[in-house]
Amino acid sequence: MEKVKKKVIFSGIQPSGCLTLGNYIGALKNWIKLQDEYNCCFSVVDLHSLTVRQDPKELRRRCMDFLVQYIACGLDPEKNLLFFQSHVSTHAELAWILNCYTYMGELSRMTQFKDKSAKHEDNINSGLFTYPVLMASDILLYQTDLVPVGSDQKQHLEIARDIALRFNHIYGETFTVPEGYIPEVGARIMSLQEPTKKMSKSDDNENAFIALLDSPDVIRRKVKRAVTDSDNEIRFAEGKDGINNLLSIYSSLSGKNMQQTEEHFADKGYGQLKEEVAEVVVESLRPIQEKYKQMMNDKDYVQQIYTASAEKALSISSRTLKKVYKKVGFVPKN
Ligand code: TRP
Repeated sequence: MEKVKKKVIFSGIQPSGCLTLGNYIGALKNWIKLQDEYNCCFSVVDLHSLTVRQDPKELRRRCMDFLVQYIACGLDPEKNLLFFQSHVSTHAELAWILNCYTYMGELSRMTQFKDKSAKHEDNINSGLFTYPVLMASDILLYQTDLVPVGSDQKQHLEIARDIALRFNHIYGETFTVPEGYIPEVGARIMSLQEPTKKMSKSDDNENAFIALLDSPDVIRRKVKRAVTDSDNEIRFAEGKDGINNLLSIYSSLSGKNMQQTEEHFADKGYGQLKEEVAEVVVESLRPIQEKYKQMMNDKDYVQQIYTASAEKALSISSRTLKKVYKKVGFVPKN
């Protein structure tokens, strides 16, 4: 029987702030479900994070921390490529080429660019502007079929598709045109303090998010302080953003669906809800934190993983880059 080729998945998280429960439920937990069925590349996209000023020491520490947490959460290094974007030179190289096939007009329509340039008024650098082109390169280099991302990245994914189609149109089939892969469940965990906003790993208010490495006491305190509402009824309903968020967290970590979750809390009060949510978070993060600690004591093992992954990633992506160089008319090296 002919072996069916597995589809390719690429995704990445920027090493800014710290990984949160939102990243775990919204991204990592879904990635883990995909690792058997697809060929997956999960990168710590460090080149992207330079679009905002970084402290070098902090950045280095955070990049390591993110990669180790990817593994601690359950991404199997035998099944996935887990690497730092800056270790694979083809990303920056393809980005230059694709910059020449992307229009100022389309980049200036990106809402993330508008938001970020408003937030960092003193540093509106051209990297911030061309950020989506680097992201398109990440994706297109691996002939990616599916890109699991949150809904805030839809626009960036759309531009990656447009660039792929445009290039293919000029030069003939070169890139697979990727599709977004927006997971059905638990996609969006909201801020504990402003539950109409997504839980952000770089929120200035530490009470707004739960970091994957927060201690049990800190987790309990943050959940206790979570914003709710004044009607005391535990049900998932429009306008009850704080309660909805706590119910979603509980549902996605306990494995109960929303209806079972509502039934479970039917005759209980907000205090009880918060206690149970805190406990399920603490218990879900405990094994992750233990594995994280273990691996931080075995840096050689971690280094082996990201080095081997980067080597493979370079080999796969170089094939695409070579094809592109040939199509645009560069003199071949060999
Ligand atoms: N821009 C993405 C974010 O902020 C991160 C990212 C960079 C990414 N390159 C990617 C996501 C490629 C998916 C695929 O969330």
